[in-house]
Amino acid sequence: MDASLKGKKIVVGLSGGIAAYKTLTLIRLLIKAGAEVKCVCTPAALEFVTPLSLETLSGHPLYSDLFSARNEIKTAHVSYADWADLMIVAPASANTIAKFAHGIADNALTTLFAAFDKNTVVAPAMNTRMYHNPATQANLDLLLQRGIRIAAPDSGQLACGAEGDGRMPEPETLLAYVKWMCRCLDSPRKGTSADSFYKGKKVLLTGGPTVEPIDPVRYLSNHSSGLMGCSLADELTLRGADVYFVAGPMRVRPHFSPFRSISVQTAGEMHEAATVLWPSMDIAILSAAVADYTPVEVSMQKIKKDSDSLCLELKKTQDILARLGKDKRPNQLLVGFALETENEIENARTKLKRKNADMIVLNSLRNPGAGFAVSTNQVTFIDKHGRVEAQELKSKEEVASDILDYLSSLC
Ligand SMILES: Cc1cc2nc3c(=O)[nH]c(=O)nc-3n(C[C@H](O)[C@H](O)[C@H](O)COP(=O)(O)O)c2cc1C
Repeated sequence: MDASLKGKKIVVGLSGGIAAYKTLTLIRLLIKAGAEVKCVCTPAALEFVTPLSLETLSGHPLYSDLFSARNEIKTAHVSYADWADLMIVAPASANTIAKFAHGIADNALTTLFAAFDKNTVVAPAMNTRMYHNPATQANLDLLLQRGIRIAAPDSGQLACGAEGDGRMPEPETLLAYVKWMCRCLDSPRKGTSADSFYKGKKVLLTGGPTVEPIDPVRYLSNHSSGLMGCSLADELTLRGADVYFVAGPMRVRPHFSPFRSISVQTAGEMHEAATVLWPSMDIAILSAAVADYTPVEVSMQKIKKDSDSLCLELKKTQDILARLGKDKRPNQLLVGFALETENEIENARTKLKRKNADMIVLNSLRNPGAGFAVSTNQVTFIDKHGRVEAQELKSKEEVASDILDYLSSLC
């Protein structure tokens, strides 16, 4: 038996959405992983799943009626809040999200949420128009500002037949989030307590590639998938940071909605977003693979293949790390990434000094499992105190965790 959640007490909240059927599997998986689970739901949730299923799977009475004489403890909303280590609300309907955001406590779930001051994950699940409705987005934003983690919904075919964002992540994925969150909360960090260093810190994070247009259909770019940036975004979010994620075009997305997402295309746009944000940030981690050169001119029409050869004139892009390093205040921390193919350590050391960074994460392309478009990475940390620490090949999630541990130990 997988006992990675052994001893964890988890409240699973359900509201009235079709995805509630998936939550039955989530409950089983949480219990299989060693957790104790109690369920709480809105009256509408019981249109989709039955009390018998929830009680049988969780092994505990269901808390669904705020005023029922059947409740073992009359103030169950308070006792559940005391009992649990963590709450996950899946599915979270647009209606329930709105109530959470505005402190409305008119049923068992919303009242428990109002009384709950520990780690909470909300998994929105709804039709794509409901999800993108400005009211729903504003309500999710309010929850994010208050430190609630939002499990970003998947995109795809929805139960109503529509296509788009709004599908609740699969139970296995939600289980992984819960495990990840518990690991983040439990593991003692080097030189700092689990939650304290990043909690409430504003972190500028860049990720993914940039694309530099040549003409309306062609561009210059690189193989960066954005996975490293997304892993860093998730790890920072779980540690309580306000993540400002400036992301180039990428297929992957962070599992948890960052505090702010700013989508950019070109190196110039990324430079502008980063320099505007930097003065109000505590930390910047620049993991994006930014183009060093961009075409001097972008052709308005598709370039014809009239000649045997073609010369593109390129100009240097603005160096984001150097610019942030130049403007850095003494209490800010700056992390750059480097990818070198020769004299790796020496070049990374020079980069750190020249650009006034506190730490460089040196990517290696030597190992077949490291670098672009793979889920693992092998890095070396080089810091402002002259230390060099080579890491083993690990998943990008573990590398993200190591980077954050190492950075906090520098202070
Ligand atoms: C068949 C059906 C499916 C629904 N699915 C969803 C859904 O996936 N997400 C959602 O936000 N609302 C959905 N609704 C609407 C909610 O059930 C409705 O807004 C309800 O008031 C939510 O109550 P609650 O938030 O208290 O659980 C659905 C309604 C019906 C009839």
